Amino acid sequence: MKPEQKVSGFSKMSKRKKLRWVVENFFRNPEEVTQELMSFWHKDERQQKIIDDFSENTLSNYVLPFGVAPNFTINGNNYCVPMVIEESSVVAAASSGAKFWQQRGGFHAEIIGTKKVGQVHFTYTGNAQKFEAIFPQIKKELFEKTEHITRNMQKRGGGILDVQLINMTHLEADYFQLKAHFDTCDSMGANFINSVLEEFACILTQIVDGHPSLKEEKGEITIIMSILSNYTPECLVRSWVECPVADLGPFENETPEEFAFKFEKAIKIAHLDISRATTHNKGIFNGIDAVAIATGNDFRAIEACGHTYAAKDGQYRSLSHVEVKDGMFKFWIDFPIAVGTVGGLTSLHPLARRSLEMLGSPGAQELMQIMVSVGLSQNFAAVKSLVTTGIQKGHMKMHLVNILNHMEASEKEVKQAISYFKDKVVSFTAVRDYILKTRKSKPNDSKSFVYEKK
Ligand code: MEV
Repeated sequence: MKPEQKVSGFSKMSKRKKLRWVVENFFRNPEEVTQELMSFWHKDERQQKIIDDFSENTLSNYVLPFGVAPNFTINGNNYCVPMVIEESSVVAAASSGAKFWQQRGGFHAEIIGTKKVGQVHFTYTGNAQKFEAIFPQIKKELFEKTEHITRNMQKRGGGILDVQLINMTHLEADYFQLKAHFDTCDSMGANFINSVLEEFACILTQIVDGHPSLKEEKGEITIIMSILSNYTPECLVRSWVECPVADLGPFENETPEEFAFKFEKAIKIAHLDISRATTHNKGIFNGIDAVAIATGNDFRAIEACGHTYAAKDGQYRSLSHVEVKDGMFKFWIDFPIAVGTVGGLTSLHPLARRSLEMLGSPGAQELMQIMVSVGLSQNFAAVKSLVTTGIQKGHMKMHLVNILNHMEASEKEVKQAISYFKDKVVSFTAVRDYILKTRKSKPNDSKSFVYEKK
């Protein structure tokens, strides 16, 4: 790193200064890059300031497509689902799964639980039994002395559900934890939970330090950390689709029974084989993450939780399940997901706000059911393609336009290429060769120069 590429006090500089420093030190053409980055600034300064304040050291906005998957029928309600994702075939797959199941009774979803979890990790060097004996009193005080934080949440029907003391000393010397369960209603609840936990840590320390029955022990309590857990296996949704096997068709080259057989095997393979399970579940997250981003929810938390849940019996497995029995096809998923429809970015981000409005301003439980159903739809569409036509046919057709854009194809060239590749295999090389050939036969086409230069 060159000396001028190091900086101190960067976060305190103005946005324009930060931008100047970055372009001058890391780009060959600072003027052009400045213009380009600034071209993505929101035209409304107030709006831009809100977006800037989401994060630190913001220079510009990073644009992704905001699309919709219509035709989602879930528990009899119709939704047009907003999705933010860069992968070309994801929205198409979610939409095709939605349409397929709309004609077969739609998606069904239910909430199995809404409990969230937080922990205070600490060490205590005194007598564990005496400590455990006073825990009922500690627990009472933990509830009472956090009321100033929990009052509002309680009014909304949530709050702290339970707190347990867990002795972990068989795993690590002197290690204990407070494990608390929460209901955070329509909010994701991260700030609420973390505030309560940090207060728990102070209350716990005070009680242990001053308690008469622990005094002669001279045991010391050390708080290691207080933080929510993103693993929320009891904040769980089940979503499913079902129909007679005979209604699964028609398919081009097989019977519905043959399709059901291959589909069932595909899901079994994703249960047995971790390499396949990872890709299989990635397809589910394609759908769920896209709705999470559109609605201003934390997709990293959702991913972390989902992947842990997929490995809950010790091996990473498919999150979705299938049963083909007595002529019926049933496909379902149990998915732990903690999301909010109030707080966080949900009302601050202009498109998150519109996304929620598009969904009919759902509460958190309804949003959980929508998101998990989108994940199931995505998964169904992906596996359906995989066991029938293969994934590349649809995927590369969508990708064709990306390749053409990469080559700066004109509108006319795009139209001609789409028509040409209707019955041909799309690959980067095939598209490039086709474009170069057509451009060569029309030497006046300025784009051929642009592309060859790259
Ligand atoms: C691609 O983003 C997702 C898939 O690979 C999922 C799957 O294989 O099931 C198509």
